[in-house]
This record gives sequence, C-alpha cells and structure tokens, in this order.
Amino acid sequence: MKFFVDTADIDEIKDINDTGLLDGVTTNPSLILKSGRDIMEVTKEICDIVDGPVSAEVTAVDYDGMMREAQVLAKIADNICIKLPLTMDGLKACKALTSEGHKTNVTLCFSANQALLAAKAGATFISPFIGRIDDMSADGMELIGEIRTIYDNYDFGTEILAASIRTVNHVKEAALIGADVATVPPSTLKALVKHPLTDKGLDAFLADWAKTGQKIG
Ligand code: G3P
Repeated sequence: MKFFVDTADIDEIKDINDTGLLDGVTTNPSLILKSGRDIMEVTKEICDIVDGPVSAEVTAVDYDGMMREAQVLAKIADNICIKLPLTMDGLKACKALTSEGHKTNVTLCFSANQALLAAKAGATFISPFIGRIDDMSADGMELIGEIRTIYDNYDFGTEILAASIRTVNHVKEAALIGADVATVPPSTLKALVKHPLTDKGLDAFLADWAKTGQKIG
C-alpha cells in the first residue's frame, strides 16, 4: 500500500518525507486555506520535496474552466496530478487530461457507481471519502470494498486512493480490503508507529542493557 500525506503543510511534508515512507501528497482548497499560502508557490515547494504524485485541485466547476486551470497547475512540475470533482464536467475533463498524458485524481467519491464512471474516464486515482461517509452513520469502508470488487471484475487500472481517513483503524481496514493508496493526515500517519507494548519492551531492554555495563562499538 502506498502512503500519501493529506496536507499542504511544508514542515509536516518534509518531516514525513525524511522517513522514506512517503509516496505522494494530496491537497485540496481547504488544505490550501489552512496553509495560508499561495496555491502555486506552496504546490511548487511540495513538488520539489516529494518525488511521487502531488494532487492539486481545480476550482472551476465547468469543463472549459477546469481544463484551463489544469493546464496552469500541470506546469508547476512533472509530478503534478490534477484533482477533479466527481461531476459530469469533472469526468469529461478527466478523460481529456488523461488522453493528454496527465495524471488525474477524481475526488469527492461517495458511491461505487461514481467510482465506476471515474475508472471509465481513465482516472489515475479515485478518492472515496471514508470519514465523511462514516459521519453520516454509514460505512465508508464498505464503499472501498465495493470499488475493489468492481475494479477487479473489469481489470480497471485506476488506483483506489482511500481519502478522508481519520483513524489508524481506517488505515488498517483500507489495507486489509485492498485500497492501493491511503492519503492520511500527518498526525494519523505518525500514530501508526505507536504501540504501548513497543515502548514498554524498549524500556525493559534498555534497563537490562544498562545493567550489563557493555557498549556496542
Ligand atoms: O483530501 C480530501 C480528504 O482527505 C478530506 O478529509 O477529513 O476533510 O473529510 P476530511
């Protein structure tokens, strides 16, 4: 499973990228707002740090506007992935941009039929929003499973990018069910390493080691 980080915070991206565990970044208009930065500047900086795909979202809602914005965003760097909303215009733009050789991420997916359309439009990634479905007292993970089945039935190459991840269990369940990618907030990504028995075990080993009076090297 690939790990993307869902943020436009440069310090967080650098920090996680340094671990060697980062495969890409996703941003959206809300995350750009949170960063307080200019979209072109901050996205360029992210692309310079990370080798993998960096999703930058269009804000136009009509096909022509999306295509215009996509050309501007695509010029930022070679690893830009154009993020488009799951609307008819978004799908049309996805098809056109994919045919031109651009990477695309179709976002705001809340149903298996929407994911089927995105795959038919040639999307590189489909982004089903797990947390926001859970917020409605439904089961976001069930959607990931449905999309996995449909994509496998027809050998679609579109990668399932599990988004709106809120917990470490979301990451585990998405991995178990076969999502190709998880885009995760920095704090949740860092929390994946935590286990109280790891801390307890390490403390015990260090205490015993000190009693040996030895040093390695
Ligand atoms: O990138 C989109 C997505 O991950 C948003 O997550 O927590 O705002 O539903 P959230």
